[in-house]
Amino acid sequence: MSSTGTQINGATALVTGGNRGLGKAVVQELLDRGAAKVYATSRSAFTHSDPRVVTLTLDVTSDASVAAAAQVATDVSILVNNAGIHSSTPVLTAPLDEIQGELDANLFGVLRVTRAFAPILAEHETSSIVNVLSVLSWISFGTGYEVSKAAAWSATNGLRLALADQGTTVTGLHVGYMDTDMTAGIDAPKADPREIARQAADAILTGGYEVLADDISHQVKAGLSADVTVLYGQLAAA
Ligand SMILES: NC(=O)c1ccc[n+]([C@@H]2O[C@H](COP(=O)([O-])OP(=O)(O)OC[C@H]3O[C@@H](n4cnc5c(N)ncnc54)[C@H](OP(=O)(O)O)[C@@H]3O)[C@@H](O)[C@H]2O)c1
Repeated sequence: MSSTGTQINGATALVTGGNRGLGKAVVQELLDRGAAKVYATSRSAFTHSDPRVVTLTLDVTSDASVAAAAQVATDVSILVNNAGIHSSTPVLTAPLDEIQGELDANLFGVLRVTRAFAPILAEHETSSIVNVLSVLSWISFGTGYEVSKAAAWSATNGLRLALADQGTTVTGLHVGYMDTDMTAGIDAPKADPREIARQAADAILTGGYEVLADDISHQVKAGLSADVTVLYGQLAAA
């Protein structure tokens, strides 16, 4: 399996959750690199000042909503599965339907959207999917969010195999805290989403399988081969 980059200049992309946070930064980065058209989605209607942006209403937890988007955005060669939720759900005590809700958005949303857009991406000689994962794909703070991101990491690896023959490269993007609505209540160093968006765009161009977008992602990934007590000890000391 070899990886191939996808042109951004002149291309058409779709970014789920493209109205705010990291998704908004990715939309802007793709525009800055010459994308001809970017579908930016949200669950509610919104507007964008750049005429190259087509806004779409999309709920990644709804089969019908995803199918409707795929009926409209039939020219996409770049798909960024960015939409996600964080519901603060302790694995032992949170209502299971809340954890299922996180899985529905963060895992099944990725699968739903990717399945719907795979035939569209296949129309292009090379195409690209970026799945926005997390450092929490590899380490848990004890909530359902990490379950969903660990599962989405595995799904990303599975989709990469499944789509290789049609020329679609699948990239997993791992990042720690970013300065977005999702982390508004968290007092910690946070990356600028624009810097993470730049790395996502670089991976689209080079066909990289994985982006470790910040120091904590490098540190945790590197620590996975150690005894798990070492990894959690390092994090506690950080
Ligand atoms: N912020 C961080 O520190 C951090 C760290 C690692 C990974 N991530 C991941 O980065 C991605 C973007 O997060 P963010 O930080 O930019 O969060 P955010 O500011 O809360 O934005 C979340 C985005 O996801 C969309 N979304 C949520 N549920 C959806 C659904 N069911 N269908 C369609 N769209 C939905 C939202 O759209 P609406 O406007 O419709 O709500 C919004 O655009 C997520 O996958 C998140 O897990 C974030």
